[in-house]
Parts: sequence; structure tokens; C-alpha cells
Amino acid sequence: MSALAKPSVKPARNQFSSGPCAKRPGWTLDALKNALVGRSHRAKPAKARIKQVLDKTRAILGVPADYKIAIVPASDTGAVEMMLWHCLGARPVDMLAWESFGEGWVTDVVKQLKLKDARVLKADYGKLPNLKEVNFDNDVVFTWNGTTSGVRVPNGDWIPADRKGLTICDATSAVFAMEMPWDKLDIVTYSWQKVLGGEAQHGMLIISPRTIERLESYTPPWPMPKIFRLTKGGKFDPAPFEGDTINTVSMLCVEDAVDGLNWAEGVGGLKGLIARSEANLKVIADFVAKNDWIAFLAEKPETRSCTSICLTLPKAGSAEQQGEVAKKMASLLEAEGVAVDIGAYRDAPAGLRIWGGATVDTADLEKLMPWLTWAYGEAKP
Ligand SMILES: Cc1ncc(COP(=O)(O)O)c(C=O)c1O
Repeated sequence: MSALAKPSVKPARNQFSSGPCAKRPGWTLDALKNALVGRSHRAKPAKARIKQVLDKTRAILGVPADYKIAIVPASDTGAVEMMLWHCLGARPVDMLAWESFGEGWVTDVVKQLKLKDARVLKADYGKLPNLKEVNFDNDVVFTWNGTTSGVRVPNGDWIPADRKGLTICDATSAVFAMEMPWDKLDIVTYSWQKVLGGEAQHGMLIISPRTIERLESYTPPWPMPKIFRLTKGGKFDPAPFEGDTINTVSMLCVEDAVDGLNWAEGVGGLKGLIARSEANLKVIADFVAKNDWIAFLAEKPETRSCTSICLTLPKAGSAEQQGEVAKKMASLLEAEGVAVDIGAYRDAPAGLRIWGGATVDTADLEKLMPWLTWAYGEAKP
């Protein structure tokens, strides 16, 4: 068979990485020109800027008034780990894992904190564990969207509102792209570099009143590093949730976070962001429906992520051959300047991973699809 002709049109922006993700459309360094660089982050104007991040986040995500929001150290990992270290051990815990990041939290709990009362509910890449088996008398740790498998929980219906345990949800590739049912979530974490295309290294932490009760009623038996500490003398410390961060933040990154939130307001807030992301998923779903050589790693349509869209190449031969074809496709597309960073995550099954979060323009994904066909034609055995 002769090789397919190269498509004539390329995406205007070729960034489809799953983190750091594409900046918002139209972003230039100019967006940071008012950054309070060279100022103390405790100075009045700097603190006001930090507060802007917290207030705009609350408004856009519809976070309930009695939930607290803070910027914390060490990105999403820092936010998750500070809460595992603070809250776990008070009651048994159910750990849900269906890809690499969820498995990382299992390692924290089983191997580092060494909790005896930890039950692990695991599923292979492409699947979810049986959510009906979760015991909500226990604390429950899970990832809303598995970034490395492209499998998300379809909604929060499986979580009872009147649970006894806390739900600890790593939502880093879900917030601003998926509806978060706040009454079902006690702890939600994420980082800036995902759906709004911000800069890395700052974590976001959102906690419920029940979480604050836990922080005040339970003191874990292990030491608590300063960068994890949310209590003072056994009492909840509200300071980080009012803009007095635990340690120094980057005012450049804060400025960029405000820029991302302003853009989010401009595209219609959460509804607009979700619509952009779902439209991106639809472009890929329509393409997959028409081409039998490419498939979703997520087995069930309702669990397909609209952000980290993971695809396999079922006709390309053995798992090893599929991996080779996927790698070749990714490098051909990069060489053509059509798409960068679209290889599957290193621990995930071979394939492609294309980000569909709100900062990616749907028109660019539409332009990318014929290039996938071309690259597969070039790379297949
Ligand atoms: C689901 C999930 N959890 C945790 C992380 C780690 O995030 P960070 O690098 O912000 O600490 C990532 C990064 O991609 C992720 O996708």
C-alpha cells in the first residue's frame, strides 16, 4: 500500500502534554508583567494576590462557603501527602487504585505510614475497581481521574453523603474539567499546571468542615514535617487558608494562576471549561468510532477521561509492537511539529495520551486527527 499523503493543515498549537499542560489560548509572557516579583509574599499587595487565587478558585469551582482553600507546598503530591499524614490512622482506610498515581498513594499508606488497617481495591489499566465494595465507614483515598490510564469515576453517586470516614480525592487532572460533588468530598487536591495550564510546584488543598474536625480530634503517632503542618497546639491553623502560606510561594506562579482563573471566567467559568473539555473528548471519540486501529484504553465510555485521553493501537501486533508503533507515531508527529508529548505514561500500557483539558482548542484536535491516521500509516508494521 502506498503511504498516505501528509495532511496539509497542522494544529495552530501543538501542545497536548498531560502536565504541564498547554497554556491558555493567547497566553504570552506579557500575562505576567504585573507579577509582584521582588516583593515579600507576606506584603499586603502580595497577600491580596494570593487571596485572589483563593477567592476566584472558590467562585469558579463553586466550593461551599464552609470549605477552606489553601495553597500548599510541593504541588499535588504535597497536598495529597500532607492530608494522608495528617488524617490517616484514625479509622481504617480503603485505598482505590487503577493506575500509577493511585498506586503511589497505596505505597505511601502501606509502605511508608505502614497502616495495618488498609484495604486496597485495585483494578488494571482501563478499568475501575468495583466502587460498590467501598466501605465508607472507613476513610477512602482515590483519584478522580487516573491521568495515566484515562479512566475517571463517572460521578460521585457511589459516595454516600452521610459517610463516617473522610473521602480524600486526588483531583489534579479533574478539577476545572469535571463536576466535583462537594458534599461527597472532604479533601480535594490539585496543582496549577493541569487544566488551567498554570505553572508547577504549588499544591491546592480544599477541605470540608469534617476534615477540620479530624485535624482537631486526631493526632497521628508519626512526626509531621513543617511543610505538612496544618495544626498549632492541636487546633486547626486557619492561616494558610487565609493566604498566609506555610512557606514562600512564587509570586510569578501566583500571577500566572490568577491569569488562568481570569481566562476561565472569560470562557464561561466551570460550565464553559467542562464544555471545552467534553468537546475535545468528542473529537477523539468520533475519530475512534470511525477507525478500528485505534481504541480507548478506558473500557467503559462513561469512564473515559475528557482530559488525559489514553488510546491504544489494538491492530499493531503484540504489546511490544504496539509500543514501538506508538513511539514512532509520537516521534514522527513531533518531528512534523504537529504534536508534542503524546506518548503514553512510562508505567502505563503502550499507546498515545492526548490532553483534552480546557486550554486545548477543539479546532487543534480536529486538525490533529488526520495526522494520527498519517502517522499510523507510516509507523505500522
Ligand atoms: C492523578 C495525579 N496525581 C498526582 C500527580 C502528581 O502531581 P504533581 O506533579 O503536581 O505533584 C499527577 C501528575 O500528573 C497526577 O496526574
